[in-house]
Amino acid sequence: MTTIGLIGSGHIGSAIARLAVAAGHEVVLSNSRGPETLADLVAELGPNARAATAQEAAAAGEIVVVTVPFTAYRQVPVEPLRGKVVTDTNNYYHERDGHIPELDDESTTVSELLQEHLPESHVVKAFNNINFAHIPPLARPTGSPDRSALPIAGDDTAAKGQVTVLLDSLGFDVVDAGPLAEGWRFQRDTPAYGMVYVTPGTTYPDWTAEPAPAAVVEDALAAATRSRDV
Ligand SMILES: NC(=O)c1ccc[n+]([C@@H]2O[C@H](COP(=O)([O-])OP(=O)(O)OC[C@H]3O[C@@H](n4cnc5c(N)ncnc54)[C@H](OP(=O)(O)O)[C@@H]3O)[C@@H](O)[C@H]2O)c1
Repeated sequence: MTTIGLIGSGHIGSAIARLAVAAGHEVVLSNSRGPETLADLVAELGPNARAATAQEAAAAGEIVVVTVPFTAYRQVPVEPLRGKVVTDTNNYYHERDGHIPELDDESTTVSELLQEHLPESHVVKAFNNINFAHIPPLARPTGSPDRSALPIAGDDTAAKGQVTVLLDSLGFDVVDAGPLAEGWRFQRDTPAYGMVYVTPGTTYPDWTAEPAPAAVVEDALAAATRSRDV
């Protein structure tokens, strides 16, 4: 059993928390408004879940998932995350988040910015490329023939190993896309982003989940392009 701290308990945070509790992990949830606002989710999740402040969730988690709106990433507590594995689900949409020049010119990536903010943590990008609604229906036991894979990226091999074990316990295989700087390969508007897990012919909001095994995700990562390389 692992204690997973969640900084952010919205669409993605709660989907991860549900899988984590189902897998026998403990979760410590947090949000911006305070633990009392998470009472319903804690009640739903049962005795392996509790709510806390973001500071406390960061301190309690053996692995901590940062899943807040991108604009809030600098509010993620630094001190309690020193030395820890931090999983980053965040995405940048300039239409929603405002323009960030170093992301617009592709000189860095979302998760590298979080790594800069948390210099003594081990950031692993994961869970950013799948819609929250497709996480529960695609989770499968280890070895299932129709199991889906999620890409990860990170600079620390041991941290990626821990995240791989965690994702396996939650119901997913993993494809290692390389160091954090390769995280662009599954950022917004790339082939590995979102649509690999969608049944062809179905569209939002009625889209349904389609398993994407590791080979499909590997091909999608390899097919990614970005304008700075063109
Ligand atoms: N939705 C998706 O399908 C999806 C898929 C992949 C990746 N993502 C990315 O994952 C991230 C989270 O997305 P989401 O859809 O889960 O967002 P969401 O539903 O809006 O949830 C965001 C959560 O972050 C919390 N939060 C905001 N500011 C915070 C702070 N300073 N400290 C602690 N918690 C804070 C919010 O708490 P309050 O409600 O109390 O403010 C809320 O619990 C985004 O970067 C998004 O782009 C989303």
